[in-house]
Amino acid sequence: MHYLTNKIYNGDVFEFLDILPDDIFDLAIVDPPYNLRVDEWDIFSSEDEFLSFSFLWIEKMLKKLKKTASFYIFNTPYNSALFLNFLKDKAIFQNFITWYKKDGMSTSKKRFNNNQESILFFTMGKNYYFDCESIRIPYLSTERMAHAAKKGILKNGKRWYPNPNGKLCPDVWEISSARHTNKINGKVVKQNHPTPKPKEMIERMIKASSKEHDLILDLFAGSCITSICAKELNRNFIACEKNKNFINSNLEIVI
Ligand SMILES: C[S@@+](CC[C@H](N)C(=O)[O-])C[C@H]1O[C@@H](n2cnc3c(N)ncnc32)[C@H](O)[C@@H]1O
Repeated sequence: MHYLTNKIYNGDVFEFLDILPDDIFDLAIVDPPYNLRVDEWDIFSSEDEFLSFSFLWIEKMLKKLKKTASFYIFNTPYNSALFLNFLKDKAIFQNFITWYKKDGMSTSKKRFNNNQESILFFTMGKNYYFDCESIRIPYLSTERMAHAAKKGILKNGKRWYPNPNGKLCPDVWEISSARHTNKINGKVVKQNHPTPKPKEMIERMIKASSKEHDLILDLFAGSCITSICAKELNRNFIACEKNKNFINSNLEIVI
């Protein structure tokens, strides 16, 4: 079946997934509705309705991924636990990543404040690409590391020297939300999309789980940050978003 790459399909994900051939994507990055009522597309009549919707797109998406593909799914910790249970015999679980947003709104006085979102990282098989070197992050203790770089640190009888590119990336990601980083003079500015994801986070997923020229699926694309990062990192993409107003105007739309 014919399909166009490096384009944004403006339509419904279920119809979009039905027109694509199976086994074509190397990586999927999916930021779907969370059932938190943040916008009209995030309202469901019940948890059951939300889960039926979610499990249906997950089932359809899995068919489109290569046997060597990886995928990342964003959601609340609670929904992610339910997705994980649904996925456990369909793909291979790799990580339950915690995105510590640092700047979540403090509103709950009867329980702990929500300051995190979750990201499920799965692969379709045991044979998959993962470039841990491209996503190293700086060591926290810069002084100690500067000292260690010169003299090394004695560990189990061997001298260990820090990697100049930083430490291996852990499964807790401390990244400020786009709402926070886009503030002007300390004030939150209205954005084109209510829930944009930080570029730094998407770049990390793309670098870790795809090679140049690989094909990336950007489902529920919103402002298409995944497609933009894919283009900048020399990967190919296909995206789907139903609301044309959210789609970044520098990208080519297919209706
Ligand atoms: C969580 S947001 C994605 C935000 C995006 N990651 C960004 O950084 O801008 C989910 C998006 O899914 C879209 N959406 C919801 N249901 C959809 C459907 N059935 N088909 C296509 N898009 C849908 C919404 O319009 C919304 O933009």
